[in-house]
Amino acid sequence: MPSIAPVKLRCAHQYAPLGLENGQVAFSWQVQALSRNAAQSAWQLQVAPANASFDACVWDSGKTTGADQLHIQYAGEALEAHQHYQWRLKLWGADGDESDWCEPAYFAMGILDRAEWKRAKWIRHFQGSLRACPHFRREFAVEGEIVDARLYATAKGLVEFEINGQNVTGNKFLPGWTDYSIRLPSHCFDVTALVQNGDNAIACTLAEGWYRGEMTWEHRRTNWGAELEALAMLRLERADGSVEWVCTDESWVSAPGPILAASMLNGETYDANLQLKGWSQPGFQTIKRTYPVRAKDVADELIEHHRGVPVTEQYEFQPVKRWQQSPGKWIFDLGQNFSGYVRLKADIPGGTVIRLRFAEVLTPDKEIYVDNLRTALATDTYIAADDGEVTWTPKFTFHGFQYVELSGFPGEPPEDVITGVFVGSFCPEAGKLRCSNPMLEKLASNAVWTQRSNYLEAPTDCPQRDERLGWTGDAQAYLRTAIAFHDVAAFFDKWLQDLEDACEPDGRAPMVAPTGCRAEGKKLIPSPNGGTAEAAWGDATTICPTTIYKCYGDQRVLEKHYGMMTRYVDFYRRTTAPGTKIRYGYPLDKLPNGETVDTPTLFGDWLNVNSDTAGEIIRTAFYAESVRCCCIAAYVLGKAEEAETFSKEWEAIRADFQREFRTTDGRIIGRSKAIESQTGYLLALQFDLLEEDQRPAAVKHLVANIRAHDTHLTTGFVGLPYLLPVLSRFGQTELCYELLLKQDYPSWGYEIAHGATSIWERWNGYHDKDGPGDPNMNSYAHYAYGAVCEWLFSDMAGIDLLEPAFAKIRIRPRVGGGLTSAGATHECVRGVIRSDWQLDGDTFTLEVEIPGNATAEIHLPTTDASSVTKGDTAVPTTESDEPGYRMLTVGAGSYVFQCQFG
Ligand code: BGC
Repeated sequence: MPSIAPVKLRCAHQYAPLGLENGQVAFSWQVQALSRNAAQSAWQLQVAPANASFDACVWDSGKTTGADQLHIQYAGEALEAHQHYQWRLKLWGADGDESDWCEPAYFAMGILDRAEWKRAKWIRHFQGSLRACPHFRREFAVEGEIVDARLYATAKGLVEFEINGQNVTGNKFLPGWTDYSIRLPSHCFDVTALVQNGDNAIACTLAEGWYRGEMTWEHRRTNWGAELEALAMLRLERADGSVEWVCTDESWVSAPGPILAASMLNGETYDANLQLKGWSQPGFQTIKRTYPVRAKDVADELIEHHRGVPVTEQYEFQPVKRWQQSPGKWIFDLGQNFSGYVRLKADIPGGTVIRLRFAEVLTPDKEIYVDNLRTALATDTYIAADDGEVTWTPKFTFHGFQYVELSGFPGEPPEDVITGVFVGSFCPEAGKLRCSNPMLEKLASNAVWTQRSNYLEAPTDCPQRDERLGWTGDAQAYLRTAIAFHDVAAFFDKWLQDLEDACEPDGRAPMVAPTGCRAEGKKLIPSPNGGTAEAAWGDATTICPTTIYKCYGDQRVLEKHYGMMTRYVDFYRRTTAPGTKIRYGYPLDKLPNGETVDTPTLFGDWLNVNSDTAGEIIRTAFYAESVRCCCIAAYVLGKAEEAETFSKEWEAIRADFQREFRTTDGRIIGRSKAIESQTGYLLALQFDLLEEDQRPAAVKHLVANIRAHDTHLTTGFVGLPYLLPVLSRFGQTELCYELLLKQDYPSWGYEIAHGATSIWERWNGYHDKDGPGDPNMNSYAHYAYGAVCEWLFSDMAGIDLLEPAFAKIRIRPRVGGGLTSAGATHECVRGVIRSDWQLDGDTFTLEVEIPGNATAEIHLPTTDASSVTKGDTAVPTTESDEPGYRMLTVGAGSYVFQCQFG
């Protein structure tokens, strides 16, 4: 009997991906444990063309000793463009037992030589300035059976494709968002089922999107270019292997259609009177004019297979309440703040004009509150043509909202007139929290919804106002929590490339990625929102790749971005005060080599509660942390000498940090401003900048500071992620729970008590008396403060990793706060980890699940070794490195432990 079986076979992070490029083909699987402690001792992987047998392998790894199961790079014969492949696995268990070959999984290669794109031409509407979304079409004939039809496509702008009246894909906002001046993402779709024998039609619609549309508070348009263009190649393969192509070129025609305007920020206007009925079907006849397209050769654009995950519609929300605010104006509450749009379904007379406006909160007199959207109009309009039932969703816009104002409806709208549709990047769910305190479950739900609403092609700051940018600091602060809730490996694979694209050659890192550029004549000018940033923002360049590596075990991420990481640190090095490792920032520490560069922005401990942290503390602390990340990367990549250099540099920064900022009584105080702050202590402790014997004093001052604020946090984006991890690491678990369970300002409980269904940008986003706070910067869907949820997984439920990719897991729940039970499930790359605890009187019960090919340290909160049982029988334990705990080690399997608490 085999003890293990390979399951969840993934290639390039996905199940059965299409359109891969060389280098992207890497295999991962989970090891299903068929018995306790099951682990993999060897593996064999075979790859063959999908239409051949495995006797015709293009790669056979042979039996390979080891526990490797993640990101195994293809190492066989050259893979062929457009070819479908199958792959299968056989595993050996710890005792040498052998599994069967598993059912094959699939992947398909795409365009391997970019010159292939020259087969097609970029097409655009002759009137470049057309406000309406241009539609394009052509017909083509097919004789005989097509066994494989695939559409390769990209666009400058957003694009949707249809073939024979059907959408090619449910994916939204194609081709995605990158710095288009550097790389254009392309996609590949299987359209075999849409193509028919005989006459066919293919069509597409373009919209401005990020490429040309209005972006940010600066109202910049034409960020990357003024012309919207589509590029597509439909590849038709017959059973005999012959191939035909239908590509965008002069043979297509174009017309403006019913989408009068579509803007990410402002919304979409649809006039059904202008519908092009049958446009994507063969035989389209119209009295309206079509125009020849303008076609342009493909130049040397870097067109690259999109590496992330698709943006899709994922959840629906029905209204939980509705009311008539004034005659003809109805407001619907969807019960959850999220990103997306609504589906309108109504029986309405022709000529009806329905207007939908979107808001996150209400004013005290129950109107929708839109001031915090700043200039984003967030309004969708539908103009009905004929009497009858219509179903409509916009194609090229999204909003961040919970409330919808509907006007123009004749009479009383039915309850189901609108349905909320959540749209975001599809990152598979990976984590769930449970807790006897409903407030903490609500906090987790608020964080996860804020994450989902902001993970749309890039990890953005907010989904509602005229901003929606990939702010680096926010992404960095929240990443570990993001990983707990969702599988973001592929999403970050893509975004780390955006980040690297946005870095300056001298190592400075961007505030946001992708960085916006605007076209001036033929030149692309980086827009001001593409400025550079340092401490905590710029350090996304070092912290994010390291975190992704730690959690997913993908060494290639470090390999790929090692240059970005070390260049960033190198910039830090060049900006230290002469003779020290302290970073004061400009102009105090001009670059010694006389180099002049634009100063990267320091945002400080952004949005802290009246408690700034001296800039030099933040600057120096993040310098140290970035060096530590580079040291880890160098070590993992086998660059021993470089690792050694980083390690020494880290020591030197620590020494200077202590000398410069640590007072004789152990406080951490700035020089430019002699102030202490919670964040100052948190950085010093989290980043291990103090000697062991210096830590207790820092902890004492930190706790005193929290108490002096009537047991409240004062941390901003920079310090907050470390607040609870540091407190519990240094024996302050009860204080963690006190802070977590607070209900008054500033706290998570305050937001929840005020009806929050998401995480607010500011602790005082809403006042009891005055309603919404300062409209200039007051998003109700900013995830940074949701970074506390990392602790709910790692400490409240107790699931953390001790070795990269959870090869070794630690289960160590922290009991407190009057909770009687808590737990979490986290599906890591190896499989599902579960920890659920209960406290019944003094009896502590822990249910644990450990996936195959992993081991776990189980730490039980007792000092009474004799009370520990595993499934009713006493088990031996050893002393834990955590006071008050006993420890034992287990392998894969499900367990129930009990002990006497305390
Ligand atoms: C964004 C933030 C961002 C910040 C930089 C804001 O406008 O919404 O989340 O990190 O600017 O300070």
